[in-house]
Amino acid sequence: MKPRKIRDRIYWMGSVDWDRRLFDSLIPLPDGTSYNAYLIEGSEKTVLVDTVDPPMAEELLSQLQGVPKIDYVISHHAEQDHSGTIPQVLEKYPGAKLITTPKAKGMLIDLLRIPEECFITVKDAETVSLGDKTLKFIHTPWVHWPETMVTYLEEDRILFSCDFFGSHIATTDLYVTDEGRVYEAAKRYYAEIMMPFRKVIEKNLEKLASYDIEMIAPSHGPIYPRPSFIIDAYRNWILGPPLNTVVLPYVSMHESTRRMVDYFVSALVERGVRVEQFNLAVTDIGKLAMALVDAATIVIGTPTILGGPHPYAAYGAFLANALRPKAKFLSIIGSYGWGGKTVNVLAGMIPNLKVEVIEPVLAKGLPSENDLKALENLAETIATKHKKHGME
Ligand code: FEO
Repeated sequence: MKPRKIRDRIYWMGSVDWDRRLFDSLIPLPDGTSYNAYLIEGSEKTVLVDTVDPPMAEELLSQLQGVPKIDYVISHHAEQDHSGTIPQVLEKYPGAKLITTPKAKGMLIDLLRIPEECFITVKDAETVSLGDKTLKFIHTPWVHWPETMVTYLEEDRILFSCDFFGSHIATTDLYVTDEGRVYEAAKRYYAEIMMPFRKVIEKNLEKLASYDIEMIAPSHGPIYPRPSFIIDAYRNWILGPPLNTVVLPYVSMHESTRRMVDYFVSALVERGVRVEQFNLAVTDIGKLAMALVDAATIVIGTPTILGGPHPYAAYGAFLANALRPKAKFLSIIGSYGWGGKTVNVLAGMIPNLKVEVIEPVLAKGLPSENDLKALENLAETIATKHKKHGME
């Protein structure tokens, strides 16, 4: 795609990756993604804001064909989907300086072997003049790596935010046109990579609150012409109270756990509790991550195999532990054939979760009447605890 004008002497560049379906060999991208770079031409200096994933380098370099001079390249974040083409850009513009945080400098040297003399490091709130336009660099660490920053273009009141506020969507829309669609994609992205760092991200939001932002230009997905939409969404994901919802990641081998899950879900619904159910054998883990953003309770469903939880259930527990959602309660349900340490193994896998563990329900083989009664009791306990915490 050719560069697209956003404002006078400000252009979108980069690449829309329609076909990508997996990020980090882990995260599903059902709607593809984009790697947005931006070109800002001041009256004296020209800057390129971030670059693109290396497989898309040629597209960015062709967009830069008509650009005779670049004085600065900003690297907001050292991850290669934004930084990976910096070496080629610096090769094309040997006089350009690379502006980063001090921490990013070390990481870019490690990851891309960029020579030390190319760098200018900036302090938090430092400014760089392009002549009639001024860049202000705001350190916003842990989005989702420690070195991250954003740039505020003062005269145009545009915030270039890189991963922060981004969404994995491949689209020809330069700006957000369907807020519902972008909300879901941005929530998924927040859940997958930023949720574990939400306390720091909350501070980053506070830091941005004093800026008059007319537009947010992230490095994934469309530009926000109404920044309050995504800023309010982030506030809600971070600070909103947990909801009257149970997230139920489960796996079943011979239908016993499945029967328990079905019965349990019905018991919860009868008591007014919402359930988001995920069969870990087939689920999109991005959807599971998204459900974990708001849910008050996590219940893991698993059969016992090789003396412990099914590996998919262990994966679900590992993921929940790593994402550190704001859930308050956790339990386990499932079946076993003759014994095992399923509960102990799973309980040992979630040290990061600040949850109250509610008595699990394990059935020997197919669930008996007593087991079903125990599931009713578990549903009742959860519904009562949710009500006690004001969740209706
Ligand atoms: Fe889009 Fe953390 O890179």
